[in-house]
Amino acid sequence: MIISIILAVLLVTVWLLAVLYMMFISVSYVISDLKGAPFVPNDDNVIRTALKLLRLSSKDVLVDLGSGNGKVLFEAVKNFEAKNAVGYEISPWPFLLSILKRRRLPKSVQGRIKLHRKSIFNADLNEADVVYVYLFPKLLKKLAPMLLKAKRENRNLRIVSCVFQIKGMNPKKTIEVYHYGFRKDVTIYLY
Ligand SMILES: C[S@@+](CC[C@H](N)C(=O)[O-])C[C@H]1O[C@@H](n2cnc3c(N)ncnc32)[C@H](O)[C@@H]1O
Repeated sequence: MIISIILAVLLVTVWLLAVLYMMFISVSYVISDLKGAPFVPNDDNVIRTALKLLRLSSKDVLVDLGSGNGKVLFEAVKNFEAKNAVGYEISPWPFLLSILKRRRLPKSVQGRIKLHRKSIFNADLNEADVVYVYLFPKLLKKLAPMLLKAKRENRNLRIVSCVFQIKGMNPKKTIEVYHYGFRKDVTIYLY
């Protein structure tokens, strides 16, 4: 009898935890969507090409606006030796993933990655040498004035936008790159 009760309590607890977990993930996806850019991590090949195009060096601080699970930040610091990488992410689930993934990195690398659960519109771009974005056109349009202001204040600021052009800004260079997930070429815009 007691064993049956314990098993029932365990089952209900596991079920409740699973429901809470699913709700947390669903709410996170809804937040990302409502904010104008769903959580869709970029393709590795596109990320590497974008970071090469930016000519990242050990002097550079990279800021990813809408940093998702942090994969761009980790790539920038681990394989492109950026001095620091800073991410801004509004949605709880991808933000939590980025925190957990950062913990798995060597301590020396962890210290060079800063993660903020904040809106991209509250990001501090004064510290940036390089800004990376992979966001939908509607959100990019809203973000353009902030990026233009940052560019006026720092002429050397390099900005890269993956897949979508930033309306109102003229790219210095564009390149086509194969996106393995989409199975087609996409464009990367350098400003
Ligand atoms: C397409 S994903 C890009 C993820 C990552 N940068 C990459 O390239 O793999 C866009 C991310 O932006 C986040 N996002 C959307 N609106 C945002 C906002 N206002 N402030 C912060 N993050 C936002 C979404 O939650 C999502 O994780």
